[in-house]
Amino acid sequence: MPEVFSTIEAMRQWAACVRRQGERLALVPTMGALHQGHLALVAEARRRASRVVVSIFVNPLQFGPAEDLSRYPRTLADDLDKLQQFGVEGVFHPTVKEMYPDGPQPTRVIVPAMSAVLCGRTRPTHFEGVATVVTKLLHIVSPDLAVFGEKDWQQLAIIRRMVADLSFPVEILGVPIVRDEGGLALSSRNRYLAADEVEQAHSLYRSLVYARRLYEAGERHKWRLLDAATQILEQAGLSPEYVELVHPESLKSSPDILDGPAVLALAVYVGRARLIDNIKLGNTSALSAYTALNEGG
Ligand code: PAJ
Repeated sequence: MPEVFSTIEAMRQWAACVRRQGERLALVPTMGALHQGHLALVAEARRRASRVVVSIFVNPLQFGPAEDLSRYPRTLADDLDKLQQFGVEGVFHPTVKEMYPDGPQPTRVIVPAMSAVLCGRTRPTHFEGVATVVTKLLHIVSPDLAVFGEKDWQQLAIIRRMVADLSFPVEILGVPIVRDEGGLALSSRNRYLAADEVEQAHSLYRSLVYARRLYEAGERHKWRLLDAATQILEQAGLSPEYVELVHPESLKSSPDILDGPAVLALAVYVGRARLIDNIKLGNTSALSAYTALNEGG
């Protein structure tokens, strides 16, 4: 079994010891209820580092007042079993009191422009909660590498920006989205879906793939691409919270005629589950000029 650390001090000491031994340490931050999507991150961390820590912390700071904090799934024993199979050495599993001893702390890390768009419109404090807890986790574990999923593209872009702007000595690695056979991006929130809703939820990926096919056939009109994706969702009986095309790094809205790479991102309620998904259009591999500056840190 991985060693489980519930205090900041114990986690720090273990990580410091690992670094003194000259090992390369990777951190995979999660909120638990682990599925194959999380485990793909762990596998990538395992490939790139000699020691892997997974944090499991349902971070209250990133949930809005009407969101699913209290019913968010908590499955620690199961999670530890899975992590053992991947040879994870350490699990950081603090209580809320350990992370926020004085209640919701006044100090926040905010990347304002990137946090107010896409999901930030309906979840106005979500990304400051994410950036703040990720800052804490990076300071506690001080990993060489931290791994995040492209499933939460906005989160990944914000963390890359934060790490670059604040000179965190860590490499940030993004891992492609893991999907089920029908294309539904794996998510802890998929367990809120009834069987017929899973069917509906498969239209998210269908809509993204359809728009990408149009893009690959030469379509560059933003609104035609967005309308095409929206139509597929509507045919499945869904009305999206948003379907948007943005620059992959800045998250700025794409111009009316696309002139470079973009990410097509969407959020949709299927029953009571709020699902998000995205797909890259064009060549995004040449991006990340500023993240390269942090690599090898
Ligand atoms: P959580 O939703 O548990 O996700 C943890 C990590 O797993 C994130 O980087 C997320 O993008 C990635 N992930 C989830 N589903 C995935 C999938 N289907 N394919 C690939 N990666 C996937 O995201 C969070 O937790 C929190 O905001 C956190 C970063 C831990 C801060 O509290």
